[in-house]
Amino acid sequence: MKILVTGGTGYIGSHTVVELQQKGFDVIIVDNLSNSDINVLSSIEKITGIKPEFEEFDMIDRDKTADFFKRNNDIQGIIHFAAYKAVGESVEKPLMYYRNNLFSLVNILQGMKDNNIENFVFSSSCTVYGQPEELPVTEDAPVQKAESPYGNTKQISEEIITDTVKSTDIKAIALRYFNPIGAHESAIIGELPIGIPNCLMPFITQTAIGIREQLRVFGGDYNTPDGTAIRDYIHVVDLAKAHVIAVDRMIKKKMKKDFEVFNLGTGNGFSVLEVIKSFEKVTGEKLNYRIVDRRAGDVEQVWADTKFANDELGWKAEKDLDEMTLSAWKWELALKNLQT
Ligand code: NAD
Ligand code: WQD
Repeated sequence: MKILVTGGTGYIGSHTVVELQQKGFDVIIVDNLSNSDINVLSSIEKITGIKPEFEEFDMIDRDKTADFFKRNNDIQGIIHFAAYKAVGESVEKPLMYYRNNLFSLVNILQGMKDNNIENFVFSSSCTVYGQPEELPVTEDAPVQKAESPYGNTKQISEEIITDTVKSTDIKAIALRYFNPIGAHESAIIGELPIGIPNCLMPFITQTAIGIREQLRVFGGDYNTPDGTAIRDYIHVVDLAKAHVIAVDRMIKKKMKKDFEVFNLGTGNGFSVLEVIKSFEKVTGEKLNYRIVDRRAGDVEQVWADTKFANDELGWKAEKDLDEMTLSAWKWELALKNLQT
C-alpha cells in the first residue's frame, strides 16, 4: 500500500509518515522544502528504520505534478499537508497563499482524476468555524466568513473538494485540526518554526530556552474563567494517528459518504494561562510572560465536539496537556543540543 504524503517533511506530515510506516504503509513524500528541512528524512529513518521515498518539487507546478502522478499511478491514497499556514503572512501576501494552497490542490486532484487514484485526505482547520455560537463545536456548525486569506484557502479547498467528489470517483476526508502541539516522544522530530513563531507552544519553549525574552499573552479580559483565550490543544502524534485511520477507512471502503469531515481535537478547552501552568509544572522552568492586548482576529474560545470522530473513526486523542507541553520542551532541548 503506497501512500503519497505531500508536505511530508513538515511538522504534522513528518509525524504522520512515522505512524504510517509503523503500520506497514509504504510512503512517498513530495515537498518543496519551503518550510521544512531535508534532514527530516534521516530523522524519520532514525525512528522507523525506513527512509521514505522523496521527491522535491513545487506542487503548484502543473506539469511536474502531472508527470509525478503518471510515474506513480500505483499510489493508493494521498494525504495532502502541503500548504502555507501562517495566518498573519497570509494577510500581507494573500495571492501567494491563494496560489500555493489552491493551485497545488487543483493539480493534485487533477492528477488523481487522470490516474484513477481515489482516496484523498485533506488537512483542514477549526479556523473554518470562526467563533462558534455553540460549544463544543460539531462538524455541522456553520462555516463562518474567514478572518484571513489563509482561513479562506481552507474553506475554498473544502468547496473544491466537494465539487470534485461529486463529479469524479474521488473520495475525500477532510480533517479539521484544532491546535496541534508537542512532538514525537523520541524528540527526533518536532515543529521547526522558521523565524519568530506565531503559535503559542513554540513561543513558550523558545522563551523558556532563552531565544525569546518574554511571551506576550494576548488578552486577559476575555469572557473565560481566567480571562485568557481557550483552545483545544491536541498532541501531534494523536493527530498523526487519525490520518492513518482515515486512510485505512478509505482503502477498506468503510466511508459512509463520498466526502466526510471530522473534527480532530481532544474535546477539552484550555486557556493560555493553563497551558503556561502545565508547561511550568512538567518542566520546572519559570516562564517570563506578561498579559498584553488581544491579538486581532483571535476568537475567544473554541473546542471540539469529538463524538463523530470517536464513534466513526474509532479514534480518540490519548495524550493530555502535560504530555503535550513536556514533549514540546524535550524537542526544544533536543534542537538546542543539535545546534551546539
Ligand atoms: P508545515 O509548514 O510544517 O508543513 C507543510 C509542508 O508543506 C512544508 O514541509 C512545506 O515545505 C511544504 N509545502 C508547502 N507548499 C508546498 C508546495 N507548493 N509544494 C510542495 N510542498 C509544499 O505545516 P504543518 O503545521 O505540518 O501543517 C500541515 C497542514 O496542516 C497544512 O495544510 C496546514 O494548513 C494544516 N493545518 C495546520 C495546523 C497547525 O496549527 N500546524 C492547524 C490546522 C491545519
Ligand atoms: C493559541 C492561543 C493566542 C501566541 C492558529 C491558526 C489556526 C490553526 C492553528 C492552522 C491564542 C495565544 C499565541 C503568543 C499568545 N492553524 N497566544 N501569545 O491562533 O488558535 O490558531 O493555529 O490552520 O488557523 O489561526 O493558535 O497557537 O497562535 O494561539 O497569547 O505569542 O495562544 O492569542 O489564544 P490559534 P496560536
